[in-house]
Amino acid sequence: MCGIVGYVGPQQAQGVVIDGLRRLEYRGYDSAGVALVVQGGTVVTAKKAGKLANLEKVLADSPLPASTTGIGHTRWATHGPPTDVNAHPHDGNAHRIALVHNGIIENFADLRARLEADDHVLVSQTDTEVVAHLVELQVQSGEDLTTAMQRVCQQLEGAFTLVAVDSQDPDRVVAARRNSPLVVGVGEGEYFVGSDVAAFISHTREALELGQDQVVTITRDGVEITDFDGRPAQGRRFHVDWDLSAAEKDGHDWFMRKEIFEQPRAVADSLLGRRTRAGLLQLDEMRLSDDEIRDVDKIIIIACGTSFYAGMVAKYAIEHWTRVPVEVELASEFRYRDPILDYSTLIVAISQSGETADTLQAIRHARTQRSKVLAICNTNGSTIPRESDAVIYTHAGPEIGVASTKGFLTQLVACYLLALYVAQVKGTRYGDEINQVMGQLEAMPDHIETVLSASESVYALAREHLDTRSVLFLGRHAGYPVALEGALKLKELAYLHAEGFAAGELKHGPIALIEEGLPVLCVVPPRGRDQLHEKMLSGIQEVRARGARTICLAEEGDTRIEPYADVLIRLPQVPTLLQPLVAIVPLQLFACELASALGHDVDQPRNLAKSVTVE
Ligand code: AGP
Repeated sequence: MCGIVGYVGPQQAQGVVIDGLRRLEYRGYDSAGVALVVQGGTVVTAKKAGKLANLEKVLADSPLPASTTGIGHTRWATHGPPTDVNAHPHDGNAHRIALVHNGIIENFADLRARLEADDHVLVSQTDTEVVAHLVELQVQSGEDLTTAMQRVCQQLEGAFTLVAVDSQDPDRVVAARRNSPLVVGVGEGEYFVGSDVAAFISHTREALELGQDQVVTITRDGVEITDFDGRPAQGRRFHVDWDLSAAEKDGHDWFMRKEIFEQPRAVADSLLGRRTRAGLLQLDEMRLSDDEIRDVDKIIIIACGTSFYAGMVAKYAIEHWTRVPVEVELASEFRYRDPILDYSTLIVAISQSGETADTLQAIRHARTQRSKVLAICNTNGSTIPRESDAVIYTHAGPEIGVASTKGFLTQLVACYLLALYVAQVKGTRYGDEINQVMGQLEAMPDHIETVLSASESVYALAREHLDTRSVLFLGRHAGYPVALEGALKLKELAYLHAEGFAAGELKHGPIALIEEGLPVLCVVPPRGRDQLHEKMLSGIQEVRARGARTICLAEEGDTRIEPYADVLIRLPQVPTLLQPLVAIVPLQLFACELASALGHDVDQPRNLAKSVTVE
């Protein structure tokens, strides 16, 4: 989710690029940099960890020469912590080109090994620097920057937006994209590239949308688009009629809504690069040895809020695939119960921000008891992963909305990957079984898109509940944490009483809450596990018989649910353990729309902070 700007034209490029990066700050980042092509054949670069102000101080202390061609970048760290060295732009050993990148290069380790075998010296921990060396190799062999970019893109696997300049070609900026955002700004004798229109909207509202696997070259004279083989291609011209605020939200009214719709991409990105060429799972940030994993005889997941509910879903998957007992604990309770820990207990700390004080204190306590700690985190270089023995980073990109959505789904993906990895090491699942689940996971982005395509009906349903003061959520098995998370979304956004229950628990008390017209959202498990499905149906019948309005989420083809559902929201048919990835999406949409219709600040709900750094 990095921010990217490129410019060529009559203006001073540094000012245009820095202004563009400032308009992309909303995306969240941890370092920034610029590169300018100076007449006479040099590229000059300035880059700095931290906020844009840090870079601007560097530029004030050591001004760069005048230039009318330049690129800039705000980095959201994926490979390598946020440091000056890892900040973009990157270059090769000849310092002839400068390149910035957004996305994940899946095969960067193999490419890096080949470069180092050819005596290339790489100084950063990023996948981006590998691409810079490859592009520089091509231009040094005599190819122009456009051809060089085409050649290199053919070698890359993964999702990427690349932008580069060449010191020997001062009036050209070349960019490329695959499964990652890039738009072209069309000005009067000047052209821009950006990760979204916010990068250049203050200069021009004329833009070009690019297609998949395309290379775009901008010069003062115009725009040229090709595919990765160099064949001419077309972009789609459009006029940007959004204001800046809407541009930052990709046209959505709230960051949270934008992030709900980013979930297919976030899940796909979080699955990238997780398998070796031999098909084995690899978790490159996992620094626990196979022996240490084989010694694990208990897993305790600690987290707060939405991340805690992700841990509850993970319990079902980890226990099913690894047969290792899993406890899921609220971080704020964990260390006060004097837990029984030792070296064979693996602590899994789940945190989107990586700064939650309750979770941080819990892992510090666990480490005093000699337990190993593995963090699942979305924020590279944050405190919790820094204080852990191993990390699995999610690749959701920055999550701006306080109410977590894509953070939750990518946490589930990371938990599934952890479970499969432990199963692979412990041998509790065969390789073909693991590959089957990986294939099912890789199909989930499309299933999430399917659910999102029905968002308007969920919005209409939400607006029917403007006067509702209480809502219940029911679920069983992996659907139970989904019910709890759905209730939390409604609490934190619509400020109304919402409570999730294990459906089997109703008859032990909560059913007394049921009264005429009370909305009860029911997460119906797939039919594959009939005992579970049947039990859920009887729970739904019980509440409906007492006047509840049953809003049921059930898979396509489930006709048994129809007589008991006052409202039916269809889900794609997916395996039981993976159903939370699709079942939570209508509940996110419901809460977001109801809060918006109520006039609440969806992105900054009252009393809440994005990262709770106090206990
Ligand atoms: C979720 O919508 C809330 N913002 C909150 O419950 C959050 O999940 C919790 O504070 C944990 O945050 P973390 O994942 O950054 O540790």
